[in-house]
Amino acid sequence: MRADLTELCRQLRLAHVVDYVAQHPDKEMGQWVEQLLLAERDGRRRAKLGKLVQQAGFPHLKTFDGYVENHITYPEGSSLDRLREMEWLEQRENLLLMGAVGTGKTHMATALGIEACRQGHAVQFYRASDLVAVLQEKFAAGTLSRFREKLKKLELLILDEVGYVPFSQSGSELLFNVIADCYEQQSVIVTSNLEFGQWTSIFGDTKLTSALVDRLVHHAHILSFTGDSFRLKQAMERIPQI
Ligand SMILES: Nc1ncnc2c1ncn2[C@@H]1O[C@H](COP(=O)(O)OP(=O)(O)OP(=O)(O)O)[C@@H](O)[C@H]1O
Ligand SMILES: [Mg+2]
Repeated sequence: MRADLTELCRQLRLAHVVDYVAQHPDKEMGQWVEQLLLAERDGRRRAKLGKLVQQAGFPHLKTFDGYVENHITYPEGSSLDRLREMEWLEQRENLLLMGAVGTGKTHMATALGIEACRQGHAVQFYRASDLVAVLQEKFAAGTLSRFREKLKKLELLILDEVGYVPFSQSGSELLFNVIADCYEQQSVIVTSNLEFGQWTSIFGDTKLTSALVDRLVHHAHILSFTGDSFRLKQAMERIPQI
């Protein structure tokens, strides 16, 4: 019990509570103080989670409750449970979620992003084309360096939907620089409907595309999503049976 209180005070950075309780060996008071500090710690954790999730800018809040995963191929030794332990994030490794439309890539990226927030990590979610637009805007306003410094403070950058909208040359270069900044410093989750061989059609330049893919895949877990679109399946289920 006293050990728990010491640990709680350490977590909450309370320097004198343990001594006070030790000088007043009243068992009930010790328990009461511990309950109070547990409430404070849990409240702080909830507030921090709320702030991190809000800052991350997820378009929808998704969790792994009811998440089906029999259509996903993981790299050897990997699984959804392993990914949820977040070791890849501690190691600054990337996750590349590749596959067909509507198969749950954005859902998984979001749910992992929320779990990262739950563990106290700073996360930012962008649709890739939106990030490119922001980068171009910051470049035009002369505030790009400041914005890139802000991105460098993240622990996880989620780039959703690489592949649906091709980028201009300047957009590709700006995005390349962000990914180069992240290399071995921060984790990136990318979702894409295109295989790497087709990425030149998005980024234009062959050399830039291969340098970008090289950086992303160097320390990465590549997951392959197959099967039919969940959106389509859900729409079909809504059609009345004859
Ligand atoms: N494995 C799953 N289990 C349960 N629901 C899922 C699963 N995958 C996706 N869904 C639901 O299906 C819908 C489409 O999923 P999502 O947007 O993640 O697909 P996507 O692979 O990102 O598609 P796109 O390539 O079009 O962006 C969402 O409403 C999502 O919550
Ligand atoms: Mg998606």
